[in-house]
Amino acid sequence: MTRRPRNLQTVEAHIFEMQRLHPSASGDFTGLLNDISLAAKIVSQEVNKAGLAEDILGSTGGTNVQGEDVQKLDEFANHVFLKCLGTRGQVSIMGSEEMEHPFFADTREGSGRYVVVFDPLDGSSNIDVNVSVGTIFGVWRRRSALDHLQDEDLLQPGSALVAAGYVIYGSSTMMVYTAGHGVHGFTMDPGIGEFLLSHENITTPFSGTIYSVNEGHEPRWSPRVREVVRRLKYGRDGGGGLTARYIGSLVADFHRNLLKGGIYLYPPTDGKPDGKLRLMCEAAPLAMVAEAAGGYASDGSGPILEIVPEDLHMRVPLYIGSRGDVLWIEKMLAQPDDHL
Ligand code: AHG
Ligand code: MN
Ligand code: MN
Repeated sequence: MTRRPRNLQTVEAHIFEMQRLHPSASGDFTGLLNDISLAAKIVSQEVNKAGLAEDILGSTGGTNVQGEDVQKLDEFANHVFLKCLGTRGQVSIMGSEEMEHPFFADTREGSGRYVVVFDPLDGSSNIDVNVSVGTIFGVWRRRSALDHLQDEDLLQPGSALVAAGYVIYGSSTMMVYTAGHGVHGFTMDPGIGEFLLSHENITTPFSGTIYSVNEGHEPRWSPRVREVVRRLKYGRDGGGGLTARYIGSLVADFHRNLLKGGIYLYPPTDGKPDGKLRLMCEAAPLAMVAEAAGGYASDGSGPILEIVPEDLHMRVPLYIGSRGDVLWIEKMLAQPDDHL
């Protein structure tokens, strides 16, 4: 007897299926996640052409609110997300790594129920050398009345996220998201321009074999962080050491470690006491994904998901990945100096 092959499922169909778990859903949220997948397809197309089109490569010559070079594709991706998100008027506020201030969206014909924050292009310094880059997004529910939006509508902790995910523009393009019912991954079939379900219910190992950190920053780490990384490398509690992998695109490093088991670290350094990564557009959304897959994310002293942002561009130290490894780091960082 011939077996019927498994059904193919697009990300849009999957999101629609998920909506059926909430019979009272209006479709606003489903529509919003579909908007994100549309933006991701457009950015993916452009990233894939980056080596061909000279005017797309390189820096704009400007700097963003963080004082960093703005790559042309950063601007392009930011623009695409602003254009695609909230087509049903369901988004009231959009925050982006590339914009100093949040953008208040046109909600004339919609509910404005959601707040979206994103890093349109993560790892953008890698674009010119054909290394994987990504997009990170987080979706919160608006808290105040639509005509009285306040800081607390934007500045919500990761624990209040209703969905989060990322897109990785790698050897293939993948979209990974969670809306609280597991973590699911979709691989883009470029021939038909669709994200197809390829990784259902992703779970991450409790402890991993990989550590990912920029060891070039070691001279500027605290002695304690140096000791943590030394033990990850040489072995802990009589066990063997881990292997090192560091791409320099958070999305790509996170994605590999999520699937294989491992830990990503961006500790504070002299001069950057809060590290480099942004709470709202990078750390909190990835923390939601990590926890939904069985992993954990910490700022070194407690869960990333519990931190209430002080502003849209607030930075935090980040330790994220396999739960057992992140908990071990938290424990190490809490030791008094003479116990190290
Ligand atoms: P972005 O391109 O959005 O500014 O993010 C870059 C981030 C992150 O992707 C990466 O992990 C990290 O910067 C790398 O920083 P270092 O060069 O200090 O290692
Ligand atoms: Mn980034
Ligand atoms: Mn970025």
